[in-house]
Amino acid sequence: MKFFIDTAEVGEIRAAHALGLVDGVTTNPSLIAKSGRDFKDVIREIASFVDGPISAEVIALDAEGMVREGRELAAIHENIVIKVPMTEEGLKATRIFSAEGIRTNVTLVFSALQALLAAKAGASYVSPFVGRLDDVGHDGMEGIEQIRTIFDNYGYATEIIVASVRSPMHVLNAGLLGADICTIPPSVISQLAKHPLTDVGIAKFMADWEKAKK
Ligand code: E4P
Repeated sequence: MKFFIDTAEVGEIRAAHALGLVDGVTTNPSLIAKSGRDFKDVIREIASFVDGPISAEVIALDAEGMVREGRELAAIHENIVIKVPMTEEGLKATRIFSAEGIRTNVTLVFSALQALLAAKAGASYVSPFVGRLDDVGHDGMEGIEQIRTIFDNYGYATEIIVASVRSPMHVLNAGLLGADICTIPPSVISQLAKHPLTDVGIAKFMADWEKAKK
């Protein structure tokens, strides 16, 4: 499974990149706004050191506007993937991008049927938001299982990005269910390598080593 990092903070991306844990990056308008920086500058800087897909989201809500913005963003670097919202206008834009060879990530997907529509429109990636579904009392991971089954049934090449990740359990389940990618916020990435028994084990090895030396 590929790991993308879900942030627009370049320092955080560099830190995870140094660990070899960044196969790609996803951003969204909220994350860009939080960074307080110019959108295109951020995307350009990320593309200067990440060798993988970098999702940049359009702001327009009509297909024509999305296509206009998406073409501009795609021109920044060959690794830019245009993030398009899961609406009828978004599907129209996705179809146009696909015909032009511009890769797309259809975002704000909350059902397997939405994912199927995105795949039919030629999306390169779909982003089902598992955490936001969990937040309202639904099982976000159930949708991942359904999307995997549908894509496998018909041989869709569209890759599944498990998004809106809140905990290491989401990452574990993404792997168990065969998602292609999990896009993970830095706060969750930093939990992945940790286990209390690893710390206990290291402390015991060190103590035994010191004892044997005496
Ligand atoms: C996906 O690409 C989105 O950027 C992201 O995962 C949304 O997560 P949130 O629900 O934590 O905002």
